[in-house]
Amino acid sequence: MERILVIGGARALGAAVARRAVKDGYDVVVGARDLAAAEVLASEIGATAVRVDLQDESTLAAAAQLLKDGIDHIVTTGSAPHDVRATELDRDKLLAAFTAKVIGPMLVAKHFAPVLRPTGSMVLFSGVVGWRPGRGSLVKGVTNGAVEYAARHLAADLAPVRVNAVSPGVVDSGAWDRLGDKKTALLSKSAEGTFVGRHGEVDDVVDTVMWLLRAGFVSGETIHIEGGARHRSA
Ligand SMILES: NC(=O)c1ccc[n+]([C@@H]2O[C@H](COP(=O)([O-])OP(=O)(O)OC[C@H]3O[C@@H](n4cnc5c(N)ncnc54)[C@H](OP(=O)(O)O)[C@@H]3O)[C@@H](O)[C@H]2O)c1
Repeated sequence: MERILVIGGARALGAAVARRAVKDGYDVVVGARDLAAAEVLASEIGATAVRVDLQDESTLAAAAQLLKDGIDHIVTTGSAPHDVRATELDRDKLLAAFTAKVIGPMLVAKHFAPVLRPTGSMVLFSGVVGWRPGRGSLVKGVTNGAVEYAARHLAADLAPVRVNAVSPGVVDSGAWDRLGDKKTALLSKSAEGTFVGRHGEVDDVVDTVMWLLRAGFVSGETIHIEGGARHRSA
């Protein structure tokens, strides 16, 4: 049975990947900075849990030590949005955003490379904003763009372990619930900006992640799951 660690696995897209991976027969480890939340999901779906905070390298080292018997796949979904204009940038929040998306996954590679099986893979999470510049999305755009390069260069560094990224468009993952009544408007606007006329569903992303785990001849790629949104003019 292949073992998979899902970082950010206690909720939203990470939790959906963890749930599907259990169904698909993987030995799943739910990694989250909130260990209690990871344990709740893990006990519900038949997985185990580990504390992983992408902002705290010591938790990455400890998790790799805990899983030292070997791991096949790591999916890392972390993000720490800092959606402001350039004039409003806060250095700590900027660093946190880069750490969640780029530096954290690179440090995951550092600590897990010795325990990742050669037939295994990593999947990083980018996002369509990397290809759709706009006011207020500077940090999200640059960090998501950097994920594409992180996947490509980590693929060279960790080979033969494969490293890829997925880049979702707007997906009703639960993350947008914080917008309350405005969520519906956001989802419809995003649907208008695609070729397929709809917003993304959780299964669109999960299906792609599960395919990448098995896609043994795909490495260093970013797979776009956004209905063609980045090809449409704003
Ligand atoms: N949903 C969309 O429309 C959309 C669109 C484009 C790209 N994406 C990308 O897809 C990924 C998943 O997004 P989502 O929709 O599931 O919602 P999200 O709210 O962006 O999820 C982020 C996940 O990362 C975890 N996380 C944040 N900081 C962390 C840290 N320091 N250490 C470990 N985990 C951390 C969160 O866990 P906590 O519970 O601890 O906060 C949560 O599970 C993100 O990278 C996001 O940018 C999503």
